[in-house]
Amino acid sequence: MTKKMQIKRLLPSRLKEAIEFADRIFKPKDGSMGKNFPVLFSKENAHNILIVEEDERIVAMAGMYYAYAQIFSMRVKTVFVGAVCTDEKYRSRGYATSMMYETEKIALENDATLMMIHGDNGIYRRFGAVSAGTYFTIRIEPNQDISMRDFRRATDKDIKKMAIWYWREPVKFVRPFSRFELFHKVGHTWDALAKTFINDSAYANFVRKERMNHCVEFAGDPIAIKLLIQDFANKYGPTMVHMNFANKECISALFSKTPRRRNFYGTMKVLDKFKLSEQLKDYLDEAINKSEKERLLKSLSRFNNSDFTKIVFGSTEEAPDFHYDVFPIPLPDYHGMDYI
Ligand SMILES: CC(C)(COP(=O)(O)OP(=O)(O)OC[C@H]1O[C@@H](n2cnc3c(N)ncnc32)[C@H](O)[C@@H]1OP(=O)(O)O)[C@@H](O)C(=O)NCCC(=O)NCCS
Repeated sequence: MTKKMQIKRLLPSRLKEAIEFADRIFKPKDGSMGKNFPVLFSKENAHNILIVEEDERIVAMAGMYYAYAQIFSMRVKTVFVGAVCTDEKYRSRGYATSMMYETEKIALENDATLMMIHGDNGIYRRFGAVSAGTYFTIRIEPNQDISMRDFRRATDKDIKKMAIWYWREPVKFVRPFSRFELFHKVGHTWDALAKTFINDSAYANFVRKERMNHCVEFAGDPIAIKLLIQDFANKYGPTMVHMNFANKECISALFSKTPRRRNFYGTMKVLDKFKLSEQLKDYLDEAINKSEKERLLKSLSRFNNSDFTKIVFGSTEEAPDFHYDVFPIPLPDYHGMDYI
């Protein structure tokens, strides 16, 4: 008889072994998984890393950690899932698939309503995750007519100022100050080395990926943000600016650029559509009256979690024909500085 696979939670004492296992599978070019993802691979978070063992060795893993998405007046508890991997010798036995259902079960027990997954593959799709969210880019070219203004790399001394600018953002992942410090120290964003620049009234975080500069996070005074990104592009070359549904109007208008819609670099799934509908109630109060809201939420409840995710947060993929002016609801992108 074949023995039944058992999914366990990682003990903090085995963190090193888990990191070595993840390093062997993902082979990070810059540093190690432990260094690049210190929130996920921390002693405090170890119990949120699921493992499968064979002969007392880790042979499969799925990492989770929690954050709150702040969307104007609403907070949505979100679970990030990443570092999903199985040892080559143990693949196609259903380990990753089973771990995904286990992450969902645990996340629901912990009151998370939305899962954001690093990656897109058949396993996540069959699990019901989709590409959703409303994200945009504009491309900024160097403009040599503009003389360089004062901007520089941010240092530890700037963290408080930057945290306050970020705190004022209406759509973001909530970061305790300590986490903001950590993000800054790690210098790793969207799976690449990252640099934060600052001027008098704004900061912006940049990564270089596939021979292109990307500005993946910014906060502060909008005009100062525009100047900072333009100055960066003048010095370092063309730069893609990544925006969410809440900040794209202002930033693209300041640059006089039409934003282009892009897909989410990963997949996501609303885990509990009823709970999310409850959370939406207060938020929708400001936009529509009570009876309309009840009708809307009732018709939404007919959809499965995957379609619900696409309708509520928008999607670049085929979605049910259900349009309502309060949707899509903006979502922060976790491929910014939170992606550690
Ligand atoms: C992707 C990865 C995690 C999959 O792990 P796994 O444990 O082999 O996953 P599963 O066994 O659940 O599923 C793998 C395939 O086997 C199939 N399968 C699942 N159970 C099966 C079973 N009992 N018998 C036969 N096939 C099975 C699945 O349908 C899946 O098919 P697909 O590849 O066509 O989608 C693994 O290949 C890996 O570590 N890759 C490198 C790291 C990586 O890319 N991680 C994902 C980041 S996005």
